[in-house]
Amino acid sequence: MRRIHHAGIVVKSLEAAYGFYRDTLGLPLVKEATIVDQGVRAALLAAGETEIELLEPLDPANGVGRFLSKRGEGLHHLCFETDVDRMLSRLKDRRVELLDTVPRAGLAGRVAFLHPRACGGVLVELATPPVEGPPAPLAPLDLKRLVIGSREPRRTADLFQSLFGLPEVAMNGGPRTMLGVGRGALLVVPADEVGGTEGMVALSLVANDFDQLIDRCDRAKLRCLRGTGEITIEPTSSHGVHLHISRYRFP
Ligand code: CO
Repeated sequence: MRRIHHAGIVVKSLEAAYGFYRDTLGLPLVKEATIVDQGVRAALLAAGETEIELLEPLDPANGVGRFLSKRGEGLHHLCFETDVDRMLSRLKDRRVELLDTVPRAGLAGRVAFLHPRACGGVLVELATPPVEGPPAPLAPLDLKRLVIGSREPRRTADLFQSLFGLPEVAMNGGPRTMLGVGRGALLVVPADEVGGTEGMVALSLVANDFDQLIDRCDRAKLRCLRGTGEITIEPTSSHGVHLHISRYRFP
């Protein structure tokens, strides 16, 4: 896995979500398109090495539409950049449950989805972007971590390691496990630390200019919790996503 290509977020309206992700956070829009076979309008916004994908369902009866009516806006899937053909054949040999047995055209390039049952309740997308893709525009925020809740964090981490070959990043013991992906990471935490939620629960980003970010959040009157080196934006202000934004990349 070369990197976390994007975190996918289901929203009611792309226009409304741009008001927060593009205008308040300042993430540059990379592309927007209608993906007919997924029944969505989708957009990619740059966030450092990674991107944020916003998905607006065009039909309440399709997969993304049902997700929105059942669970509301929020984190929907995570996408790794990889060689999708090689990865799919490896997963097929291991009889991993797939939603796509052959890659199809998606916003991120040629993509394929695994069944969430195969990945501890997380919907995982694999993508091979077009070779001639333009370089990512500079963004004021860099997605550094994606947080996954699990009742059995060790087992979930082992599963991600064995399916995708992700190296474990040293932590100071305890029940949390961190797996590296490019410059980013997946952090697997016990579900009871995150209100019992299993699957993707939060995104951690790092701000290039933290003070400027605080100004922008103030001007937009966002609901957030503040610490000295981190703010947590409440899901009511961020289209259903727990967002932690910190001043420093480490820890
Ligand atoms: Co996606």
